[in-house]
Amino acid sequence: MRPRQRLIERIRKRLLIRLAVGLTGVVLAMAAGAAIFVFWGVYNVSALQQHTEPVYTVLTTALDRSISQRAEEIDVPPLDQPDMQARGLSHYRDQCVQCHGAPGVARHDVGKGMTPVPPNLAHTARNRTSAEIFWAIKHGIKMTGMPSWQFIFKDEEIWDIVAFMRQMAVLSPADYQAMAASVNDQPEEAEASRRFPNADRGRLAMYGYACIACHRVPGLVGPQADVGPPLAGIGSRRYIAGVLSNNSDNMVRWLRDPTQVDPLTAMPDLNVTEQDANDIAAYLETLK
Ligand code: HEC
Ligand code: HEC
Repeated sequence: MRPRQRLIERIRKRLLIRLAVGLTGVVLAMAAGAAIFVFWGVYNVSALQQHTEPVYTVLTTALDRSISQRAEEIDVPPLDQPDMQARGLSHYRDQCVQCHGAPGVARHDVGKGMTPVPPNLAHTARNRTSAEIFWAIKHGIKMTGMPSWQFIFKDEEIWDIVAFMRQMAVLSPADYQAMAASVNDQPEEAEASRRFPNADRGRLAMYGYACIACHRVPGLVGPQADVGPPLAGIGSRRYIAGVLSNNSDNMVRWLRDPTQVDPLTAMPDLNVTEQDANDIAAYLETLK
């Protein structure tokens, strides 16, 4: 190598080393910044502190894209069948008005101080497809306060709500009052026919019924609360809650009606359907 070439080579190496050191520094500084942000509690989680405009835009875009991607797979049934809207209104009045309001009806206090604010659904009905609305109701929206309703309503009932929401976009307050006055509460329907228990769905159901608010459950992420006993190893325990021998029928019985098994228990009745209890029991059985 000629001296000149050697010199160039040396300079190149030095530059590369400097670049590597510089980059490592930047990454470390960012990690330190993130750690300070998290551990010193810099981020204000107050429900009245709205995100800044750019953050808000990014989050809303992520939410819109996420919903519309997932809604593409959904087939929309006819939404103009008789009684659908009336049934939908009845569910809406029971479960949605408190956060979202209705034409001429204010949201309750729970729907006021939230960030993000629960949107006016007449506005949503104009801007989103039926499949998107169905998806949002069925699955809920993480970190917004919008619950998933799939363990409360069957798919047909969610479509009833979508049908009503489509109508709601054009209802005046007077129309809504008239429609609401003519609708009675829906009678409880008989439960759907049995199918084979599904442990995966059971795992999801334990989020859907908020079991993790009280129990630590292997395979589920949550607050690690010890209100009820941890459920690790429940599949190989002899007794359920110390009173029932542990088999799947008894587990279903316990899950559906704990206070009937033991009137003094602190585990409340959670209106678990028979099918959901079967699915949850199938998951719990795997926790050996
Ligand atoms: C505890 C309050 C609460 C209840 C009860 C509730 N929601 Fe929501 N809902 C929210 C919040 C918060 C959002 C998210 C706002 C956002 O888009 O960031 C939301 C979002 C939605 C969306 C998506 C809107 C959009 O345009 O992104 C739909 C659709 C919806 N809710 C329908 C319903 C229906 C139908 C019910 C009743 C079965 C219901 N919600 C019950 C709080 C609630
Ligand atoms: C409000 C808190 C709370 C919620 C919500 C709750 N549990 Fe419990 N659970 C308890 C308590 C407390 C006990 C102990 C009961 C006893 O021994 O009398 C218990 C006991 C149990 C047991 C028996 C445990 C053992 O060691 O024998 C099982 C299984 C169980 N819960 C499953 C569930 C499932 C599944 C859900 C959701 C569908 C759920 N729990 C929701 C509080 C709760």
